[in-house]
This record gives sequence, structure tokens and C-alpha cells, in this order.
Amino acid sequence: MVNRWSLATVVILLGVISFNSCKKTDDIQPRKRLPVLPDEPYDYATPPNETFFVPFGDSVIDNDVATLGRVLFYDVSLSRNNRVSCGTCHRQINGFADNRAFSNGLLDSLTGRNTQTIVNTGTQVGFFWDLRESTLDHMVLQPIANHIEMGIADTLYMEDKVRKIDYYPPLFVKAFGSEEVTSKKIGRAIAQFVKSIVSVSTKYDEGRMMQVNPVSNQSNLVDFANYNEMENLGKHLFFRKFACSQCHGGVNLDGSLSAPKNIGLEVDYVDNGMPGVDEFGVKRDGFFKTPSLRNVALTAPYMHNGVFNTLEEVIEFYNSGIQPHPQLSQELRVREQGGLTPEHLGPVIDFNLVPLNQGTLPQKMFMTAQEKAALVAFLKTLTDYEVLTDPKFSDPFK
Ligand code: HEC
Ligand code: HEC
Repeated sequence: MVNRWSLATVVILLGVISFNSCKKTDDIQPRKRLPVLPDEPYDYATPPNETFFVPFGDSVIDNDVATLGRVLFYDVSLSRNNRVSCGTCHRQINGFADNRAFSNGLLDSLTGRNTQTIVNTGTQVGFFWDLRESTLDHMVLQPIANHIEMGIADTLYMEDKVRKIDYYPPLFVKAFGSEEVTSKKIGRAIAQFVKSIVSVSTKYDEGRMMQVNPVSNQSNLVDFANYNEMENLGKHLFFRKFACSQCHGGVNLDGSLSAPKNIGLEVDYVDNGMPGVDEFGVKRDGFFKTPSLRNVALTAPYMHNGVFNTLEEVIEFYNSGIQPHPQLSQELRVREQGGLTPEHLGPVIDFNLVPLNQGTLPQKMFMTAQEKAALVAFLKTLTDYEVLTDPKFSDPFK
């Protein structure tokens, strides 16, 4: 409770400080450049390829709403100093993440965490590294309000700002049938655009679609005809031997099916991650969302704090660098503590964890050089070159 109050005070103070220090930059005029849009809206409602999952979740995408969302997503006018848009940090070319450990928001201040990729958000149930948001429509207004990212905390001010930009009224009419601008509509439009950014065209998707029953997770366990030997070995290691898929599961190889996890990145976490208590009632420390691995080859640096620069470093971490944090996830402990067998023959989930006070024994995976390379080769098959270049997801102001 105390923490919550002091946090609230800090947030309010920061709000006041940023409001005051931003006053000068408010005078900067929105940029004069107009968005260039096709005469007929792009088709956002149909996924670019047949796929083994429902990429939009339960949403129906409207092409005009998504078109408005695209303009808002890339419009720096949505930031207090007219310098930052969603697309500044979520860059198409980088799989809708960026290549920095922490990103520049307003006034060159940095985000507290690494920017996440935002493909296939329609299939996800929890957002942000600490899973603090569960719905996208509400969530997308968060970065706008966050003083570090975009700096407009006052929704009325934001609505007013959008209302005064002359290319918006016709776009609102097309999308919602009237010129009226509300933050709810802004949120909905951006959310529709973000949800429309689906990744279904990787080598991995292609391999899954070649299986008799692509929907079944079992299809991950047979060799894919479109993979080379290394990629198939990496896939085997990922789904079987090292069982990465215990956490990185589902259609995005993310944690949408499981709770947030502590992977023993640090013994003493600088960023404590998701608040609350664990299953033993102990205050959580270092629990984070298991991120999607789609386009992971393009989203370095890695982890919530961007501590690893390459996929090789991440693999070496899992191989030999897991720290003995008392709340380390079971899946990454030695077998006696619920983890894999020492021979890594497959996951053995033993829910009778040894008491925390007996210490934690992180797994050592004893990967060979070939296995490390194979895991990297497999992770690279998760790159979707179509979503990276599709004009309908690109910046209309360029
Ligand atoms: C200054 C950089 C920056 C800007 C601008 C920005 N974001 Fe983000 N975004 C981030 C960071 C950093 C995170 C992770 C934050 C966290 O977990 O605390 C994130 C997380 C997200 C997520 C959650 C993804 C997931 O898998 O959980 C979504 C969705 C998202 N942003 C959409 C947007 C939208 C829409 C906008 C514009 C309205 C936007 N972002 C603007 C940096 C940025
Ligand atoms: C106990 C669950 C768990 C297991 C098992 C696991 N991961 Fe992770 N993985 C996570 C979590 C949680 C994160 C984010 C941790 C953080 O930022 O503190 C992560 C992060 C990553 C990242 C960085 C992604 C990014 O965008 O920053 C990669 C790559 C990765 N894992 C690959 C693997 C591989 C390969 C294996 C198997 C050798 C594996 N993981 C096993 C939960 C797991």
C-alpha cells in the first residue's frame, strides 16, 4: 500500500514536471506533411496467407477504421512535442520493435523497458512486460498518456489536437460516420490497425501449413520439408530436448498460455517486473511476460532490459548463465526441483517444488556448439519478410 501511494505521488510529480517542462515545446507546429493514402483503402480484413490460427482473435477488422489507425499510429502530432509516434519505437523494418535496449521518447528521456514487437496482438491476452493490460483498445492509449513515451496525459487536449488537424475529419467520417473526435475512437482505430498487423508468412508458418493437421501442436514435433537440417534440429531442440516451448508456446511462441515467469536473468532484479505475490504468497521478483519470438532475429537487443545483443548471447544464457534466483521458474531448475531431466529427454513437470529455503539449482543445458547454432537457425525461421515490407503497414507520411 505504502509503495503504491508513493508510486502514485511520483507519477503525479513527473506529470507536473513534464507538463511544465513541455510547455515550450507545445508551440512547435504539427508537421506540414500530409499522409499519402490509396484511393481505395488497403485490405486489412483478410490475412495475407492461409494460416493455422485465427490471427485477429475475436475482432472484425474494418478497412476504414484501420486506415485511420495507420495514420494515427505514424502521426507525431499525437505527441506533446510533435516528435514521437508509435512508429518511432515500433518500427516496421525491425519487426515492429526497435534496435535499442531502451527507446527515446519525449525530450530524449528513455523508456524503462525494451520495446516489444507488436505482431499478432489479436491473439494475445496480456500486454506489456508485466502483463498489466489485458485489452488492446484501452492499452493503446497508455503510451500516449505515458509522459516518457508520448507525453499527452490529458485526453481532452489530445482530442482537441487531433480535431484541429485538417486531414482527420474526412478520415473520421469514413471510419465512424461522423467528424466527431473522441479518445475512445482514437484508441479503437489504433487498436484495429495494430491488430491488423498479422504475421502468418514465416518459413515456420509455411512448415506448419504443410502438416496433415497444422492446428495441432503435435505438428511441431515432425520435421518440416521446407526446413534444412539445422533448422529441423533447432526445432527439435526447441520443442523437445530443451523444451523452450514449455514457456514459448502457442502460435506466437510466447507465454500467452502461461503465467509470467522468472528466468533467473538476475539474482537481484533491478526491475522487479510484475507486482503481486507468487503461488507461495511470496512477493514476486523478476516475473516477466514470455515474449513472442516472431521476428526475434530483428528485435535485438533482448529481454525486458535489452541486456543481450545477439541471439547467440541469449542461447548462451539459457545454456550456462541462469542465475539461482529463489523464484526461478520450475521449467529452468534441475529435475529434483521440478525442471527437466538431466538428460533433457523432455519436460518432467513436478509440482512438488522443494521448499524455497533449500536453495535453487538452475539447469545447465550442456549444449554443443552445433546445438546452439541450430537453435539460432530455428529462431531465424520465425522472420516474416512480408509483414516487414507490406505497404499497408508502412508510414503514410513518408
Ligand atoms: C518511446 C517508445 C514507444 C512509443 C512511442 C510507443 N511504444 Fe509501445 N511499447 C514501448 C515499450 C518500451 C513497451 C514495453 C513497455 C512495458 O512493458 O512497460 C511497449 C509495449 C507496447 C505494446 C505491448 C506489446 C506486448 O506484446 O505486450 C503494444 C501493443 C504497444 N506498445 C503499442 C504501442 C502503440 C499503439 C503506440 C502509439 C500509441 C506505442 N506503442 C508507442 C515503446 C514505445
Ligand atoms: C520458464 C519459461 C521459459 C523457458 C523454459 C524459456 N524461456 Fe525464453 N523467455 C522467457 C521469458 C519470461 C523471457 C523474458 C525474460 C525477461 O525479459 O526478463 C524470455 C526471453 C527469451 C528471448 C528474448 C526475446 C526478446 O524479444 O527479448 C529469447 C530469444 C528466448 N527467450 C528464447 C528461448 C529459448 C531458445 C529457450 C530454450 C532454450 C527458452 N527461451 C526457454 C521464458 C522462458
